[in-house]
Amino acid sequence: MSVNLKVHKPYVLYEEGDHKFVWLGLDESEHEKGILTNQYLIVDGDEGALLDAGGYFVFERVYENVKEFIKPENIKYLLFSHQDPDVIGSLNLWLDVAPNAEIYVSELWERFLPHLGFEAAGKIIDIPDQGMSIKFGKSEIKAIPAHFMHSVGNFHYYDPVSKIYFSGDLGAAVFPAGKWYLFVENFDEHVKYMEPFHRRYIVSKKAIDHWLEQIKGLDIKIIAPQHGSIFQGENVKKFIEWLKSLDKVGIDYIW
Ligand SMILES: [Fe+2]
Ligand SMILES: [Fe+2]
Repeated sequence: MSVNLKVHKPYVLYEEGDHKFVWLGLDESEHEKGILTNQYLIVDGDEGALLDAGGYFVFERVYENVKEFIKPENIKYLLFSHQDPDVIGSLNLWLDVAPNAEIYVSELWERFLPHLGFEAAGKIIDIPDQGMSIKFGKSEIKAIPAHFMHSVGNFHYYDPVSKIYFSGDLGAAVFPAGKWYLFVENFDEHVKYMEPFHRRYIVSKKAIDHWLEQIKGLDIKIIAPQHGSIFQGENVKKFIEWLKSLDKVGIDYIW
């Protein structure tokens, strides 16, 4: 059976004045090389911040789509949730086209990234365990601690202007070939694509509880994950409630 694997154009999730939050498109045939990934670009004025730039083989697609919104050399920040290849595999290529960009990553991973082979001196900003605020354009981007969700040194990024929360691997959905949608429509149907990942990759229930404390008080309109589909409206709350309802994850799930 042949499946129709489509190429999707970028989608602007938020735009007001000169501030934008953009989903950077997808070619469903990337599925044949590795897990499908989402990348996002925040633009404020003439500054850009790229969230989880992605693996080596998605670089060309992401680069071409970024150029529709900003000159790559104006990317000020390459913000990383954690150290996985699907997150950082294109880093060397990005540093060639965005030579002024600063890299933000957990202080736990700062010593590991230079093994990709780039000149790291002065390029990497360590995010401390408690998170930080990163000045961006007329506003800021908040690095929210999400340790053990799944990486030991893990951050999500919240844009208070658009109220969009980039959740890295949290909220990931893994689809079979030929199945894909950008926004979650039917949450209950969507759960089956999320559950195996969250059961096995999230380290423990305690990690979930700690993260819930971190996001208390944040006004979140959209949750945008690195894999799968975007949660908006009622589905933001439904996702958080579903996560709370998972009794056993990680170490309690497999042993
Ligand atoms: Fe990961
Ligand atoms: Fe991932």
